[in-house]
Amino acid sequence: MSKQIKLSALQGKVIAIDGPAGSGKSTTARRLASKLGFVYLDTGAMYRAVTLFALRNGVSVDDARALETIARRVKIRLTGEKVFLNDEDVTKDIRNPEVTKAVSPVSAHEGVRKAMVAQQRAVAKDGNVVTEGRDTTSVVFPDADIKVYLEASLETRARRRLIDFSRQGISSTLEEQMKDLAARDEYDSNRQHSPLTRTHDSILLDTTNLTIDEQVERILKLVRIRVKNI
Ligand code: DC
Repeated sequence: MSKQIKLSALQGKVIAIDGPAGSGKSTTARRLASKLGFVYLDTGAMYRAVTLFALRNGVSVDDARALETIARRVKIRLTGEKVFLNDEDVTKDIRNPEVTKAVSPVSAHEGVRKAMVAQQRAVAKDGNVVTEGRDTTSVVFPDADIKVYLEASLETRARRRLIDFSRQGISSTLEEQMKDLAARDEYDSNRQHSPLTRTHDSILLDTTNLTIDEQVERILKLVRIRVKNI
């Protein structure tokens, strides 16, 4: 457990981080939350859980109505480390390649998004949250106290994904990962509802040449500067 940093002016605040897949959001947000003693809210994991449920039950990624019903009814619980779907630990299953492929079209449906956003806001109602995703700075928490947009080159992001996959025992190539990420970026950035965008008030951080430790340090520095002005 890392040493926690006490910044009393941060109490009740929300820190939101958006960016494309592989930009380092999850690891950065998780570490930041741990350092600040905040809750870590991984919004992508929620869309993945809905997608896993749909795939297991043979629901098409195009069936807007069925997917909305699923999104409203399934019980998703995030503990920071683990993800539970109707009380089953699905932490690993939501990262499998089938879910990763289907999650973009599933998350593009307006009804699915509405159900998820309501749950995300409920989790953050008392603040003390570090959240990350595609629309946390723009739609879910437009009034977040600190907003960050992470980006990194496509190749760097693909290399990171490759390492993640090999840790999970899944074989892939750099070319495959670059193709998949580019397709997901395109889909997430151009969908009709809540596309991935960098809001005007988000601080841009390019992580291409940064280690995770450096990323976290940079954001903490920003947090300290912002806190003085909050
Ligand atoms: O961050 P991730 O790779 O786990 O996200 C999986 C997908 O979920 C992503 O491709 C798009 C969707 N997503 C979203 O639409 N809105 C969010 N706030 C988070 C994720």
